[in-house]
Amino acid sequence: MTGYNRGATLSYWVTVVSDDRLEIEKLRREIGRHNVSYHVLDRPEIADAEYDSLFSRLIELERLHPEWVTPDSPTQRVGAAPAKEFAQVAHRVPMLSLANAYSEGELREFDERMRGLLGEDAIVYVAEPKLDGLSVELVYERGVLISGSTRGDGATGEDVTANLRTIRSIPLRLNEDGAKLALLEVRGEVYIEKDAFRAVNDRRAAEGQPPFANPRNLAAGSLRQLDPRVTAGRPLRMACYDVGTVVGRTISTQQELLTTLPQFGLPVNPLFAVCTTSDDVVAFYRRMQEEREGLPYETDGVVIKIDRLDLRRAAGTVSRSPRWAVAGKFPAERAVTRLLDIVISVGRTGVLTPVASLEPVRVRGVEISSATLHNEDDIRAKDLRVGDRVVVQRAGDVIPQITASLPELRDGNERLFSMPSTCPSCGSPVVRLEDEAAWRCLNTTCPARIKQSIWHFASKGALDVDGLGGKLIDQLVDRGLVVRLGDLFRLDRGTLAALDRMGPKSADNLVQVLDRARSVSLARLLYGLGIPEVGAATAELLARRAGFLDRLSETPREELETIPSIGPRTAEAVVDYFANKENQKTLADLLAVGLHITPPAAGPAAEGPFVGKRLVFTGTLSVMTRDEAARRVQELGATVVGSVSRRTDYVVAGAEPGAKADAARDLGIPLLSEAEFFDLLDPHAHD
Ligand code: IVH
Repeated sequence: MTGYNRGATLSYWVTVVSDDRLEIEKLRREIGRHNVSYHVLDRPEIADAEYDSLFSRLIELERLHPEWVTPDSPTQRVGAAPAKEFAQVAHRVPMLSLANAYSEGELREFDERMRGLLGEDAIVYVAEPKLDGLSVELVYERGVLISGSTRGDGATGEDVTANLRTIRSIPLRLNEDGAKLALLEVRGEVYIEKDAFRAVNDRRAAEGQPPFANPRNLAAGSLRQLDPRVTAGRPLRMACYDVGTVVGRTISTQQELLTTLPQFGLPVNPLFAVCTTSDDVVAFYRRMQEEREGLPYETDGVVIKIDRLDLRRAAGTVSRSPRWAVAGKFPAERAVTRLLDIVISVGRTGVLTPVASLEPVRVRGVEISSATLHNEDDIRAKDLRVGDRVVVQRAGDVIPQITASLPELRDGNERLFSMPSTCPSCGSPVVRLEDEAAWRCLNTTCPARIKQSIWHFASKGALDVDGLGGKLIDQLVDRGLVVRLGDLFRLDRGTLAALDRMGPKSADNLVQVLDRARSVSLARLLYGLGIPEVGAATAELLARRAGFLDRLSETPREELETIPSIGPRTAEAVVDYFANKENQKTLADLLAVGLHITPPAAGPAAEGPFVGKRLVFTGTLSVMTRDEAARRVQELGATVVGSVSRRTDYVVAGAEPGAKADAARDLGIPLLSEAEFFDLLDPHAHD
């Protein structure tokens, strides 16, 4: 009886045990599958509550049978105890970084380079968003996650397996297809979505803790936690985009990789494009730039990769980046850099302008190393100190600005700035005129002022003296060779050839260019004289109204004010200019050296290429600002509009044109380069 009983008990236990064991296995498979549906495919098949009850049941069974708990059980994501430090992991295949391209042109060059290198007429690329997180490597053996590491220096990373295991989109065990592979090293980005990031910061704010700076920092900080329980509380995700060693299956293209990994249960970013031409590549780069804001994650560019892995091997690697891929970085609107110094520049009207010299930084694809600070009040208002970290921006327009200082980053070594009391160029005392924010040097023979006047006089919109650069002007003024503008026309080949960085040939060229510049339109001359308030557009108006220099110099203020779009300030500045004795000497001298002023073409703008036309500007002009160009064409009868439509007559594209240029191409609207535009604007410029 006893024996029977014992036997019965035993057999009862055996049945229960094997049932539990089967149930545990079944639950793990089911939970694993739901993890993939939820975290990888974004297609949950069951309600959260149902998932939770499966999970609780598994925990309960594992508590009953601790001997059956294995590391790949979904309950073991947060199993490991806090570490003291991370162990080092050598990557079997180095984890490389990417070379950057900063413009559409550089992306096209990449394609050209690849076709040249590989001797192919056309190459297929896969383009993906560049996720802004940190890259990791996962190692699966026979489908089981055995290790996970950071990129580190590319050769060796840190073992963050315990932390990676807490990320729900990372399978601890691959499905059956994946389990067939003896070894799979897979790489990807660990990142945090924008919404989840905001939620974390909201929670922190509620708890009175300081916010995290950005999703990337939070992701990096979370993954490098010594206590995996902290990591488990952070909304990390992963997207795979590359493999290292794969044993047991061949993957031959990136497209195949992106479809195969999800079949194993691994997450990939479903957003990518297959590109067969550089136009396709550029289109994806533009599209991502436009859609960037709306994407759930942060991205700072696109990654363009050769699709075929055999071609990648043929292309090879240079230093630490593969030749076969490139990161097309989006231009950043803003950047933080250090304010190294504030230097004073003296303008041609004697205004002292503080200029920030900055630690060089790239903003929207252009390196910025200086920015104007306008005046002393501007520096005060922004509380700028030398040594500060500052925010620089290049919005819409060309000119970089400092928008703010970051006082919280000060270490106490910053110093306050004050304007000098004497001109840094000539040493005469500077004055701050009533109602003016600016300090001025009133010395008309101040070398800095003369240099600036010459620079402006020779600039493209004025006499356009090609070859007369800043270094040369410095020498001419410092050696006393040019004291007034007219002296430029007295320079001879021998004198010029003897200057630093000049030779007989460049001296000859400059003499010829100066000789041609001697004949100049009244408008260009007026602009070139640097009369305060008189830009290129106003000069044009004044020239057209007065016709001759003499007549303009005698026109009373009241009459000038009757010219449309000329206000009292400008009128006064013009009258003052001609009343000034120094200026009169300059003008007389210019005429004495044979300056020939050509009168403006007769009549108002009743005809001409711009009358009644609708224009759109895009990109950056090099000769004048877009505002100035707009003003000029408006005076010539055109309307300037903001967006391209079928009614647009011309689209003027400067450097780095935007989507408006594409729209023009699509609609078949004439696209003018900057040079073509200026030819239309001023057909005599090259006469
Ligand atoms: S492919 C050879 N694809 O960008 C490198 N990288 O500077 C293969 N990244 O370290 C990387 N999104 O952290 C690739 N879709 C993507 C990416 C991506 C982000 C990161 C990755 C890498 C860095 C390169």
